[in-house]
Amino acid sequence: MGERLGLLPAEIDDEIRKGDPGYILTYRDEFLRVLEGAEPRTIGEIGEVRPEVAGTYTNQVIMMEITPDPKLAGEIQRSNGIRFFQILDGENRLLAVFKPQNGEKPTRLSEFNIKSMYTREVAAYLIDYYAKLGIVPPTVLRTIGNEAGSLQLYIPPALAEVPARVPELNRIELVSGLSWKKMAMLDRLINNADRNAHNLLVCLNDQTKQIAIDHGCSFCMKKKTDDSVAWEYFRNNPELATLDDELTGCLRSLLEHQDEVKARMPEDIRRRLEAGIEPRVFETAQKMLGAGTILV
Ligand SMILES: Nc1ncnc2c1ncn2[C@@H]1O[C@H](COP(=O)(O)OP(=O)(O)O)[C@@H](O)[C@H]1O
Ligand SMILES: [Mg+2]
Repeated sequence: MGERLGLLPAEIDDEIRKGDPGYILTYRDEFLRVLEGAEPRTIGEIGEVRPEVAGTYTNQVIMMEITPDPKLAGEIQRSNGIRFFQILDGENRLLAVFKPQNGEKPTRLSEFNIKSMYTREVAAYLIDYYAKLGIVPPTVLRTIGNEAGSLQLYIPPALAEVPARVPELNRIELVSGLSWKKMAMLDRLINNADRNAHNLLVCLNDQTKQIAIDHGCSFCMKKKTDDSVAWEYFRNNPELATLDDELTGCLRSLLEHQDEVKARMPEDIRRRLEAGIEPRVFETAQKMLGAGTILV
């Protein structure tokens, strides 16, 4: 079956090979535990580790290898009964990307009038988490060395790639699944100003499924959701923007967990939410439910 993709157990490896990103949601609490607790080791800048990932980035993106310590693995196993990260034989590793605050470009920060991007990566994930969207890879705040930053589960290129590197990109397939609508909904909820074709990953075996990355320019005052490629699609096709049962459930879940969302938010974002400044995530979610569409 070839080389491991960086995740154990083999069942997850198989899910990835079949092109199913469902594991992101299924194992999210285990991933969070490992991202929060395990010792990371720097592999190198993403462009060094994967030379095909070239370009001018807003952030420094560093690849990390994480080996969960046996204690943590044991706890994970007990808490969920899932055989996860159990075999510590050197093959068992998890990959993540680290975006340190020090690597954030000052020009980009002043363009959006924000002080940090890494906290926004975590804030966006918390919205995904409590809305049970399952499209953002688990992301936590971490200090590695002396650097504060965000640490996010790495999605292997065997599963998904940025659209620019998918030679047989099928635009119709891309927009026809639920994850495209979930991404547009997320972008509106967090006022994401930077959803372009490099900030999402398309699943290679099923292009109707996508994964949302790079939320450093969300939670901004500047109302820029109109620039989101996903949002733009629904604005041009309003008849397709209606809520189905699943999306309705996602919004209800988010609204039911408002207190937890706020409590777990990084400090700067929590202050925004409490002060009621843009993006008014919960008010927007409520409006979507009332209107029956994501176009509010
Ligand atoms: N979680 C991830 N899984 C897989 N690839 C990623 C992930 N995060 C980033 N990348 C890759 O690194 C590139 C740069 O990361 P991104 O989050 O977009 O940073 P920037 O803010 O600098 O644009 C992405 O276009 C993608 O190719
Ligand atoms: Mg980017």
